[in-house]
Amino acid sequence: MGGARHVDSADKPLAQSNDRNAVDHLPLFDGHPRMQEIRSIIESIADTDATVLIRGESGVGKDLVARAIHAASARRLGPFVKVNCAAIPQGLLESELFGYEKGAFTGAHRRKPGQFEYANKGTIHLDEIAELPLALQAKLLHVLQDFQFSRVGGHGLIDVDTRVIAATNRDLEEAIALGEFREDFYYRLNVVEIKVPPLRERRAEIPRLAAWFLAKFNAQYGRSKQLSPETVARLMEHTWSGNVRELENTIRRLVVLTDSEQTIDALMTGRRNGHPEPPRPPVTESLREIARRGAREAERKVLAEVLAQVGWNRAEASRILKVSYKTLLNKICECGLTPPSRCAP
Ligand SMILES: Nc1ncnc2c1ncn2[C@@H]1O[C@H](COP(=O)(O)OP(=O)(O)OP(=O)(O)O)[C@@H](O)[C@H]1O
Ligand SMILES: [Mg+2]
Repeated sequence: MGGARHVDSADKPLAQSNDRNAVDHLPLFDGHPRMQEIRSIIESIADTDATVLIRGESGVGKDLVARAIHAASARRLGPFVKVNCAAIPQGLLESELFGYEKGAFTGAHRRKPGQFEYANKGTIHLDEIAELPLALQAKLLHVLQDFQFSRVGGHGLIDVDTRVIAATNRDLEEAIALGEFREDFYYRLNVVEIKVPPLRERRAEIPRLAAWFLAKFNAQYGRSKQLSPETVARLMEHTWSGNVRELENTIRRLVVLTDSEQTIDALMTGRRNGHPEPPRPPVTESLREIARRGAREAERKVLAEVLAQVGWNRAEASRILKVSYKTLLNKICECGLTPPSRCAP
């Protein structure tokens, strides 16, 4: 049986940190009762290996919560390995997570360890967990049950001693209903659930966060900008659909770009020098996510059109779209075009 000792030192984990101070100085979890609740959950699970599912809109601070859990745990001196499941092509995810043996596929010239091996004795943070393909969800379910896995192309089982923290901004219950997320995997992940509220539901934190970002960017850019009470009042009224990330970027722009504070409204809505631009939602997705979403939407539109055209004759639709009947049924299900109860192939 292999073990995490076999990690090839020439390879590097995607992201690793064991710096406890990385989170200690952040204005985390203090300014609002719901964040204080999160802090006490983190403290109460610190000495356990319970799997955690962190949920919340993009930019609320899920990454920070994951790091805080690691930093508070007995594993803090071990690695913190983050894998963004949306940033890795689906076909490569399995070998990225679990590694591969020499000769496992064309181009596999040598054995390569996966991120699970790098995370041995530490924590693995599986970000954007909803993007994992169903087959990989099944494999991970077994890993979470037995803490053993095999590399791609390998036969022996490898033991791994790691805590799993998953995160998502997607509605997993909806993904389950659409057949995109396994229910058994959901329950296995969701031992401890932490819901990070959007910034608009914890506005009391805005002044403190803004002051913290102001101090950070003043130091970074050698400025000495201040926030007037009026500016803080405007910050507190804003909707912050991009959450703390949007606030952080607004304060960064304020520090870098403006000579006066009069332009705070312009900074928040993306206008410059009185020339209005159409309001745009902040870009919070990676290019890969945008491409995937675009492809999904295009697929859904064409499917709906063809199905309407052939009066929902699925055999006819599968011929027109040049996919097997089974694939068509899966696609209909994935796109939510029929109720889940009618999705079974
Ligand atoms: N409480 C906080 N204190 C200081 N900075 C924060 C806090 N919460 C979030 N941030 C900052 O806001 C930004 C977004 O946070 P983070 O990356 O953790 O969000 P996320 O929920 O993981 O977003 P996504 O779903 O897009 O991955 C980061 O730069 C982070 O440092
Ligand atoms: Mg994140």
